[in-house]
Amino acid sequence: MPLGVFDSGVGGLTVVRALRAAFPSRDILYVGDTARVPYGNKSAETVTMYSREIIHFLKKNGADRIVVACNTASALAVEKLRESVSVPLHGMIESGVQAALEVAGSGPVGVIGTAATIASGAYQTALSQVRPDWEILAQATPLLAPLVEESWLQGEVTEKVVRRYLEPMMREKIRVLVLACTHYPLLKGVLRKVLGSEVALVDSSEACAKSLESTEAKVVEKGELKIYLTDEPGPFFGRVENFLGSGSVGSIQRIALEPVV
Ligand code: DGL
Repeated sequence: MPLGVFDSGVGGLTVVRALRAAFPSRDILYVGDTARVPYGNKSAETVTMYSREIIHFLKKNGADRIVVACNTASALAVEKLRESVSVPLHGMIESGVQAALEVAGSGPVGVIGTAATIASGAYQTALSQVRPDWEILAQATPLLAPLVEESWLQGEVTEKVVRRYLEPMMREKIRVLVLACTHYPLLKGVLRKVLGSEVALVDSSEACAKSLESTEAKVVEKGELKIYLTDEPGPFFGRVENFLGSGSVGSIQRIALEPVV
């Protein structure tokens, strides 16, 4: 049975990339809700409704386990959805927090994500539950995902934007930065340049793959990846490789999601 993975758009392919590296034999069904991206400025109610429709689609198509690659959906919707969904749901928060625990000494810890992720307080709460002694500095960084979508992964403008967002955290001398958004693994180069090598970066896509190790079998034959998008694949097609890396995509198809009541 395939593993279901979904995101608001194609950014979640960074998580697929990490999952495929860790579990090459697993067939993956990926849904990118490109018709309704971004989720990062939407309400919990809306993101929960969208996520429910995608989960319904993935379950109907045979997914036995679903990874919520979108950090915004993980922060706003996963807990509520777990009450009513019959397949295991893996959000990004638990694994991101676990990875931060492994690398952080005495803090302070920074978290960056979409406006909705940071406003939800989900990462801040989860981090302070495991380490009440840590100082946590959270910053919404809504300009970063669009920069990545434009493939502005480095250069003066991106560096300035990153620096401006991170300055308050740098003043507090964070030791760890949690990248709580699908797009941010592609900005590791510029983040390293701005923060220096002493700040550990927690890549939530790698952390998520690692957290699934105990549930996924390791077999070497190659699994298939099917990508479903809710809008015409056209404008997103070229960007798929940015997020996914080079690797064979079985197919990209447009789908219509059914409302779930
Ligand atoms: N995929 C979203 C996330 O990880 C970022 C893009 C959006 O705002 O939808 O939070």
